[in-house]
Amino acid sequence: MKVKKAIIPAAGLGTRFLPATKSLPKEMLPIVDIPAIQLIVEEAARSGIEEILIITNSNKQAIENHFDINYELESRLRDANKQAEEKMIRDIAEMSNVLYIRQKEPKGLGHAISCAKAFVGNEPFAVLLGDDIVVNETKPALKQLIEAFDEKQASILGVQRVAKKDVSKYGIVKTIDSYSKNNKLYEIDNIVEKPNQTEAPSDLAVLGRYVLTAEIFEILEHQKPGKNNEIQLTDAIATLLNKEAVYAYEFSGKRYDIGDKFGYLKANIDFALNRDDIQVQLYEYLKEIIK
Ligand code: G1P
Repeated sequence: MKVKKAIIPAAGLGTRFLPATKSLPKEMLPIVDIPAIQLIVEEAARSGIEEILIITNSNKQAIENHFDINYELESRLRDANKQAEEKMIRDIAEMSNVLYIRQKEPKGLGHAISCAKAFVGNEPFAVLLGDDIVVNETKPALKQLIEAFDEKQASILGVQRVAKKDVSKYGIVKTIDSYSKNNKLYEIDNIVEKPNQTEAPSDLAVLGRYVLTAEIFEILEHQKPGKNNEIQLTDAIATLLNKEAVYAYEFSGKRYDIGDKFGYLKANIDFALNRDDIQVQLYEYLKEIIK
């Protein structure tokens, strides 16, 4: 089986970015001038995904407009002889086949994923979380996971090591095989959502990229609320482990937690320093204020 579909949950309230997110979806906050969710859709498209379902809520129309054609803007840009800009906004609408469904109540990530059951059917599928931006110019993080899926035909969770003090922010996995420098793919023994430092089984954290088998939907249907009284995807994966093998893949790439204010600023600085149009100016400015 091949992974052709992806889910991007985008129904969160964005409370950590208020007041910006009072009326603007947090997924539309830009990294320099590109909405974060566009970077996520680009990663999915570069990974070979053909259809994307974005899980939204009533406050997220801006996302749908962003991936739609905007004839009026295109025509104004054409009249103003701005062909590059016209092409740029048309390319966004043609980037991928994007569909939407609303999560009617904020009942957690697991519940959001369960809203995609009809879209996914019986195929394996990918999940990309918008708070995690991963930069890898040669091979996107999701593509790395999909290749691991092609090899194992089993669910694959994208992981990286995190500092011990940060384990309580993530789903943490315990692997069956012990760590070795040359290995990236590990069979998972157990997974826990946001354990405290003393209970964490390792420092391998799930960082917003998953390839899952469709078996997860049946489990999610019966999943009781867990951490923070939300239906947790992590808890459903823990149950999936009793039925089939699940693997962790230590993906390569620089990852930014843009759900965190400092992570968001770091992403903006690094992306800007990589951009031909502003890197020199920004670099000079940073040197000046550090003096
Ligand atoms: C979610 C998941 C968690 C995962 C994290 C990755 O948590 O529940 O298992 O490690 O994303 O960023 P959230 O950050 O949405 O609270």
